[in-house]
Amino acid sequence: MGSATKAYIKPHRQSDSDQLSAAPESNSNPNSPTVPETVVKKSESTDEKALDRWFLEQRGNKRVPKRLNIPNELLVTTAGQLKLIGNITLINEDGSVTRANNLNLCRCGASNNRPFCDEQHLEVEFFDGGAVTRPSDCMPVTQPQSLTVTCVKDGPLKFRGYLRIYNKKGQECITTSGALCRCGKSSKKPFCDNGQSCEGG
Ligand code: FES
Repeated sequence: MGSATKAYIKPHRQSDSDQLSAAPESNSNPNSPTVPETVVKKSESTDEKALDRWFLEQRGNKRVPKRLNIPNELLVTTAGQLKLIGNITLINEDGSVTRANNLNLCRCGASNNRPFCDEQHLEVEFFDGGAVTRPSDCMPVTQPQSLTVTCVKDGPLKFRGYLRIYNKKGQECITTSGALCRCGKSSKKPFCDNGQSCEGG
C-alpha cells in the first residue's frame, strides 16, 4: 500500500519567530518551565553559550544587539563623545538595563540625554584632545568579551570587563576595570579623577 509514504511526517522547521515566542522574557524567572526545546537538548552549558543563546533569543527586534565576535573597544574622540563597541550591558542610574553593541556616551557633561551623547558638546564648545596616556594592565585578546558599564549617579561611568581604550593618534590602554569621566572636568580624561576637578558629576 502507498500508505507508508503518506505516513511521512514533515519535520517542523523552527523559525526565528517560533524561537521568540517560545523564549522566556529576558527578565523571566530562570525556574520558568517555558524553556525552549532546543535549549533542553543541548547538554553543554557554559557562560559563553548562555550569552550566545540570549542574543539568539532576542533576534527579531532590530534594536536588540547581536553577539559580536570581537573584543570591546572604546574610541575617545577629539572634543566629542566616547564611542563604545562590543557586547555591552549598560546599567542606567535608575537601575534599568540596556544591552547594546554600539553606544555613543557623553563625556562633556552637557547632554540632555545622559548617559548618551546628543551633540551638545558642539553647543558648549567642549574641547579635549582625547589623549589616552594610562598604561595597559592586561594583554590584548582576540576573543569576544562581555563588558558592564554602570552609570553612577552624579559620578562617572564605571566599567568592568575587557576594554581597549584608544584614540586615532595611535594611543591605547587595555584594561579590565576603571571609571570614565562624564562631567568633562577631570584632569585625567578620559578617566575620572575621583572628583578632584568637579563636584562629583
Ligand atoms: S560628548 Fe556629546 S553631548 Fe556630551
